[in-house]
Order: sequence, then structure tokens, then C-alpha cells
Amino acid sequence: MHDFKFKNGELCCEQVKVSDVAAQVGTPFYLYSHHTLVDHFTKIEQAFAPVRPLICFAMKANDNLAVLKTMANLGAGFDVVSGGELKKALRINADPAKIVFASVGKTEEEIVAAIQAGILLFNVESLPELEEIHRIAQQLNRRPQVALRINPDVKALTHTKITTGTLKNKFGIDMRTARKILKSSARYPHIQLSGLHVHIGSQITTRAPFIKALTRVLEFLEVLRQDGIRLEYLDIGGGMGIIYKDEQPQTAKDLAGAILPYLQKTGLKIIMEPGRFIVGNAGILVSRVLYLKDNGFKKFLIVDAGMNDLIRPALYDAYHEIVPVVVTPRRKVKMDIVGPICESGDFFAKDRLFPVLKKGDLVAVMSAGAYGYVMASNYNVRGRSPEIMVKGSAFEITKQRETFEDLMRTETLPTFLAG
Ligand code: LLP
Repeated sequence: MHDFKFKNGELCCEQVKVSDVAAQVGTPFYLYSHHTLVDHFTKIEQAFAPVRPLICFAMKANDNLAVLKTMANLGAGFDVVSGGELKKALRINADPAKIVFASVGKTEEEIVAAIQAGILLFNVESLPELEEIHRIAQQLNRRPQVALRINPDVKALTHTKITTGTLKNKFGIDMRTARKILKSSARYPHIQLSGLHVHIGSQITTRAPFIKALTRVLEFLEVLRQDGIRLEYLDIGGGMGIIYKDEQPQTAKDLAGAILPYLQKTGLKIIMEPGRFIVGNAGILVSRVLYLKDNGFKKFLIVDAGMNDLIRPALYDAYHEIVPVVVTPRRKVKMDIVGPICESGDFFAKDRLFPVLKKGDLVAVMSAGAYGYVMASNYNVRGRSPEIMVKGSAFEITKQRETFEDLMRTETLPTFLAG
């Protein structure tokens, strides 16, 4: 459920009319509902209450400061995957003791920053990375906690580009290597090998892959127990799917019902890393119609947002519901809804039955809160769109629209070409 609803024929976010925001900030823009964020976080918290998990919001899904602060105020920690994300989390005074750091390619600079910040856990993805963290920890005279991200080799039954838990993927450590590392922990006195991490993919709509992965984890923990190895944490990653079209994903309650017994059996402290579930349906991308073009074969509704704003349809063939912001009696015909960018991949919908809108009308691309703005680019020298958050009847810009000058700030002509 979310807080984008039609009232008197107009799309509203909580108590704010989307068209009022458009009138004030121009288009395109991202709009987030504070209440939806709170609601989704609370759903996970309540469903999994029996294991009192640390919920580390996967900020790769949406790193807007207002979103992060909303999460931190609810007691969330953060799953970060870069030095930049770490700094951004610290910028809103996130508790470093609630930050976990995953990435297959952590640099020395990032490892130093994370150790110095005092994060809870490194989720380590390879033996060379473990050795690097150990070396740096020794230099800094620290002893950070590490969880090994294991690759359970299970299919997540989702889009191939967002599947991460099979041995074809670059992520995690195969179980044999992980066991070897854990058995030789004496070789790493400057790190505490204190947990396991598992994340098998994203937009997973059924419980089966989670159960499969956790079954592997339990089997592995039993092997480790026999090896005399004791751990403290199990980080089960993210991946819970949401409704974009007609998916019927498990609710937080359903998933908890299915996997709580496994989590309880581990006896470990549980960490979760949900991203999309919390923020996916808490955001929309609002755009304005520029032209309706009919080439005799096909109709195209051309809007002012492009794949540089939301790349998911181009990259994953992702479906996003699109609605006119003001309900219209206009007839519906099949059309492509596209952006202005010079690529055929620049589309939001293909062959969609949609009302024949006119220039200036507003449309909303729904479920754009996760992996929307964060994946935006400046392709075609387009400034990124602003982000706005609504709370009740108030709204504020939390990130300004990028201007041309913003884009030029870091670029100069080489001296041999200047003048
Ligand atoms: N933890 C780890 C280690 C991850 O790699 C991810 C997502 C998450 C947590 C959060 O997963 P979520 O709960 O959001 O499913 N750009 C793609 C999704 C990429 C997901 C990357 N990893 C998309 O737009 O569908």
C-alpha cells in the first residue's frame, strides 16, 4: 500500500496535489511520501519482531537525505556499498554501529574510512578482500567485525541482471572457501570473523528462494558448529519484491511467517537489508507531456522525463504503471510513452493503452522510489530532476534540480585547447 491516491479526480501524495508540486517546481521531478516510507519500514519491523532484527536500509535503492533521515529516525541502520554512501549516511548522523558495508570491490580508502567510522560489519565478498581488510586493520591497530557473504548458489527467480546468489554471479564467497576461511580465523587476528551474510537477488516475489537460501545457511551453520566455530550475526540481505504491475508478492508478514522459524533456529542476531520494499512504492516520477506523435504506424506520447531520470525500463525491461495526474475522459489508444533522449531504449512504456493526453498534461510514473533517482545520469547534458518529499499537507524540495552550471562545475578545457 502507498499514499499516492486519486482524490476528486486528481492524483495526490498524502494530502498534497501532485499538480500543485508541479506548478511550484516544474517537471520532471521525483516525489516521495514520508508516510509510505514509515509504513513500509514498520511493516517489516512488526512482522519480524520475534527476532528483533537490525533493519539496515539498503541506501543504494534511494540515498536522498530526507529518505535516510526518515529511516534513521525510525531506528534503522544502513547497508552501504561505497565510501560515498558511508559518508552520506554519516551526514545524517546515522549510528555507525548500525552500518554494514558490502561491495565486491572495496578500495583501501573505503576500508580505512569504514574502520575509522566504526561500522558494525564489513560484508566481505572474497578472500583477497578479507586479507586487505586484515592488513589495513593491523596498520590502524583496530579489530573490525567481518561477516562473510556466502554465495548459496540458489536461483532468485527474478531478472538475470538482479540475480546475485548463484556461482555465475560475482558476489559472495562459495561455501567451501568460506569454511576454509572460518577454520583458519587464527590467521586473521586483526579482524573478528563474526557473521554470515547472504543476499540472493532483488524483486523476489516468492518465498521459495529465501527458504532455499536459508536452508543452505542452516546446513552451513551446522557444519561450522561441528568445526567448533561460533558466530554472532546473520545478515539475510534484501530482495523482497513489490507490486509494479500484477505481481502478488509475499507481504512482510507472509515472508516472516515462512522464514522466522529458520532465523530463530540459527540463534544469531539477525540483520536485514531491505531497499525496494521500503522505498519502491513510496516514490513517483512526475513528467509533462511535450508532444503526441503519430507516424501512421504507431503513436508516441513524448514526455519531458527520460531514461536519464529512470533507466529501469531500458535496463531491465521493467514495467512501471503510468497514470495521468488528472483523471481524463479522453479515449485510450495503444501508444509508447517515451522520453526525449536519442535512444530507442528511452521509453517508459511500450504499446500501453493510455488516454490521448495533450501538451502540458502531467503523467506520473509509479513505483519509481527505488533505483530511480539513484540511477539517474546526465546523459544528453540533462540536469538531474529535483526530489521532493511530502509529509501530510506539506512538501519540500530535498534535492534541487541540477542546473547547467552545476553540470559544468567540474569540467574544464585542457590548456592546449583553451583560448
Ligand atoms: N543487500 C545487498 C547486498 C544488495 O546487493 C541489495 C541490492 C540489497 C540489499 C537491496 O535489495 P532490495 O531489497 O532493494 O531488493 N537496480 C536494480 C536493483 C539492483 C539491486 C542491487 N542490490 C533494479 O532497479 O531493479
